[in-house]
Amino acid sequence: MRCLAVLFVLVALSESITRVPLHRGKKLRNILKEKNLLEPLLQKHHYDIGTKYHPAFSNAAQVADEPLLNFLDTEYYGTIYIGTPPQTFTVVFDTGSSNLWVPSIYCSDTACQTHPRFDPSQSSTFQNAQQTMSIQYGTGSMEGILGYDTVMVSSLTDTRQEFALSTSEPGVIFTYVKFDGILGLGYPAIAVADVTPVFDNMMNEGLVQENLFSVYLSRGTTGSMITFGGIDESYYTGSINWIPVTEQGYWQIALDSILVNGQVIACSGGCQAIVDTGTSLLAGPPSAISNLQNAIGATPGQYGQYDINCSNLSNMPDVVFVINGIQFPLTPEAYTMKESQGNCNSGFQNTSGDLWILGDVFIREYYSIFDRANNQVGLAKAV
Ligand SMILES: *[C@@H]1O[C@H](CO)[C@@H](O)[C@H](O)[C@H]1NC(C)=O
Ligand SMILES: *[C@@H]1O[C@H](CO)[C@@H](O)[C@H](O)[C@H]1NC(C)=O
Ligand SMILES: *[C@@H]1O[C@H](CO)[C@@H](O)[C@H](O)[C@H]1NC(C)=O
Repeated sequence: MRCLAVLFVLVALSESITRVPLHRGKKLRNILKEKNLLEPLLQKHHYDIGTKYHPAFSNAAQVADEPLLNFLDTEYYGTIYIGTPPQTFTVVFDTGSSNLWVPSIYCSDTACQTHPRFDPSQSSTFQNAQQTMSIQYGTGSMEGILGYDTVMVSSLTDTRQEFALSTSEPGVIFTYVKFDGILGLGYPAIAVADVTPVFDNMMNEGLVQENLFSVYLSRGTTGSMITFGGIDESYYTGSINWIPVTEQGYWQIALDSILVNGQVIACSGGCQAIVDTGTSLLAGPPSAISNLQNAIGATPGQYGQYDINCSNLSNMPDVVFVINGIQFPLTPEAYTMKESQGNCNSGFQNTSGDLWILGDVFIREYYSIFDRANNQVGLAKAV
C-alpha cells in the first residue's frame, strides 16, 4: 500500500456571500450555549496564553518574524492568536487567497472536531458581522460566518480584523492536516465578501515597518520563516530580482518561458504565473505539464502522480523558469518529492486553469518577497 501525502492547492477559486437574516443570530447564540459546555479544556489553554501576549507590546511599526513548521514539504504553517483572551490556531499563510478563517464551535464536521475551534463567546473583543460566506479552494472548501476580532501574528496586534468562523469544512481535505485554518496574503481584489485582508489591515494600522513580507521555506521541519515588514538577508545569497505584479489579485507575474536542456519546453511566447505559498507543488496547464514530465523522464503512476526513479536524479535535467529575462533553475533535487516509503514523485502537477502556480517546490529554492508598496515580487536564491 502506498500512501501519498496530501497535496494542497490553496488558490481561492470561487466564493459566495449571504447576508444573515436577523433571527439567525438567536439560533447561533443557542448553539453557542450548548457547545460552551464542551470547551472547558480549550478555555483553560486560552487563559494560559493570555498572560503571555499583551497588546501593549506592539505600538511602533515593526519587522516581525513568524516561524513556520514544515510538514512533509507539503504544508507550512504558523501559530496565530484570535480574541481576548487569545485563542490559539495554526494557519497556512497563503499568498493564493485573501481571507482569514479558522474552525469554530458552529462547525461539527470531522475536520472541525479534530482541530481547535474558535468560541466567540469567550472573546470580549469579538463582534458579529451578520454575514455568511464560502470559499472554494483548488483543493477543499469551507463555509463560515464573518466576525471581527483582534488577531495577533508574531508581535503584531491587528485590531478589528474581519475573519470567518467556519460553519462547515466538508470532505476529508482539512481533517488530517496539521493546520487549523488559512490566513490569506493575497490582494484585497480576491478577498471574499470584500473583507479587508490581514496584511492590508496591518498596513492600514501602521504595524509594519515596510509594506512587504518575505517568505523562506526550509526543507527541515523547522527553520521556515515569514517576516512581516522586512527582508531577512540571512535567508538568501546574491541579489534580489524584482518582478512586477501583472494583476493585483493573486501575486501574479509574467513568465517568459520554461526551458529544459536549453530548449523551450513550455510557456512558449510567455505565460502568467502566481507565486503561491499555499500550493505544495508547481502546477501548470495539463498539456504543458505533460511535456515537462516527459522531458524530465517522469512516468505516469497509479494514483495520478508522476513517478521518478530516485537513483536517477544525477542524469536528470534542470527545469529553468525564465522570468523578466532572468533564469531561475530548479534542479532535479528541487523538483523531486521524496516519499517516506522511499519512492520519488515529480513536483510538477496539472492545474485546471491557464495560470502556472509557483508553489512551495519553487519557493523553497527562491526566497520570495511580496512587496505591496511597489507591487512587485522579489526572488533571490534561498540559502
Ligand atoms: C533517467 O533520466 C533520464 C533523463 O531524464 C531519462 O532519459 C532516463 O529514462 C531515466 N532512466 C531511468 C532508468 O529512469
Ligand atoms: C494531467 O494532464 C494530462 C494531459 O491532459 C493527462 O494525461 C493526465 O492524466 C493528467 N494527470 C492528472 C493527475 O490529472
Ligand atoms: C533507476 O536508475 C538507476 C540509475 O540510472 C538505474 O540503474 C536503475 O536500473 C533504475 N531503476 C529502475 C527501476 O528503472
